[in-house]
Amino acid sequence: MKIVIAGGSGFIGTALIEYFAKENDVVVLTRNLKKSKNNMGNKSIEINADDLRVKYVTWDAFHIGEWAKELSDADILINLTGRSVNCRYNYKNMKEIFDSRIRATRVLGEAIQSLQKPPRLWINIASATIYRNALDYPQDEYNGQISDLKSMNMPATTLQDLQAFFHKYLGWAIPSLFVRNRKKEPRDFSVRVCKKWEEAFNEITVPDTRKICIRLAITLGKYGVIVPYLNLIRWSLGGRQGNGKQMYSWVHVKDFCRAIEWFQQHKELNGTFNCSSPNPVTNKEFMSTLKKASGYIIGVPAFKWMLEMGAPVIGTETELILKSRWVLPVKLLESGFRFQYPLLPGAIDEILKSRKKKFAHKASHLHQTNVKSEGLYPRVKAVQ
Ligand SMILES: NC(=O)c1ccc[n+]([C@@H]2O[C@H](COP(=O)([O-])OP(=O)(O)OC[C@H]3O[C@@H](n4cnc5c(N)ncnc54)[C@H](OP(=O)(O)O)[C@@H]3O)[C@@H](O)[C@H]2O)c1
Repeated sequence: MKIVIAGGSGFIGTALIEYFAKENDVVVLTRNLKKSKNNMGNKSIEINADDLRVKYVTWDAFHIGEWAKELSDADILINLTGRSVNCRYNYKNMKEIFDSRIRATRVLGEAIQSLQKPPRLWINIASATIYRNALDYPQDEYNGQISDLKSMNMPATTLQDLQAFFHKYLGWAIPSLFVRNRKKEPRDFSVRVCKKWEEAFNEITVPDTRKICIRLAITLGKYGVIVPYLNLIRWSLGGRQGNGKQMYSWVHVKDFCRAIEWFQQHKELNGTFNCSSPNPVTNKEFMSTLKKASGYIIGVPAFKWMLEMGAPVIGTETELILKSRWVLPVKLLESGFRFQYPLLPGAIDEILKSRKKKFAHKASHLHQTNVKSEGLYPRVKAVQ
């Protein structure tokens, strides 16, 4: 098979390369492999490349170019492009988060439309964050609620809790200035991005290409989000976060790769699918499973007010920790797909083992083709 992965230089792309590129030809679209900004914890590539059939091609994720030819006759196009959301939501970052996803999706659609032999399957990654803050029941493709109101997506902040408390008991004494104005309900940035991202994908008509949108849950693997969690645990800060009751929907990255293969094989499938393990856990359970598996006993909890104070310091948003993400992969299960890692302890064990493995070969002989100039970038030096 020929598989093209746009934005494939990061955490999930690397896992897909390891999964597919032994027996298939993989083309990765990247802006600049050497300077790739991704979710790999400052490690660029760490794959055993000797036996992998992978080629890196330059694009700008915005304009149509020579790279579009790489999509011709592909069996699968997977779009993973997007600036990491693990940052402060200031204007610059929000614009980049938004533009990188929407523009890349649109230009890939344009590229497909220009081809005589378009890819047979286009999988666009989206996010399970699209569903509301759910503490009452799990969200699936049929019953899931999607609203971009902030109040539907974020638990109240400590300040709002205090306001509500004083309003309840001292309402008569508080000037209305301090009471939350429901008419001016703020909108939630993440859900707005998710909605526009899916709209951009759904709007594109590509008659000869099957389309699948994957609402992906927090993906656990050797890199990505596991790295900051393990750091917290090492510093004995691996207790529950907030009240620990918020749900944590996750999926092992290998199950994500298997789902891609499943979609390719099952030609009757199209539309939107959740991709998350069928057994989400609470934040408290997640932290304690990870802590035990890593061999640590002490884990100081982080209360909501601590997270609110700490998030700006470490350059992140509390939403990524405190929003209750309770998602089920109902359509995927209905289609007959079975997870290799349905339960968290098994998934964590495998990941911790994989992190101990040393890679015998560095990807130093990989090269990136700059299709515009037909030249080659200097050989990529893998960073370990
Ligand atoms: N990891 C998760 O838990 C998770 C969960 C749900 C959804 N997702 C979504 O899945 C996708 C892949 O996730 P990942 O963890 O593999 O992310 P990642 O490691 O950050 O990789 C994303 C890739 O997108 C490209 N990119 C970054 N900023 C860009 C920009 N401003 N413009 C154009 N391209 C840019 C980068 O490639 P180059 O720099 O080489 O061009 C990068 O390698 C993302 O869209 C993410 O939102 C991830």
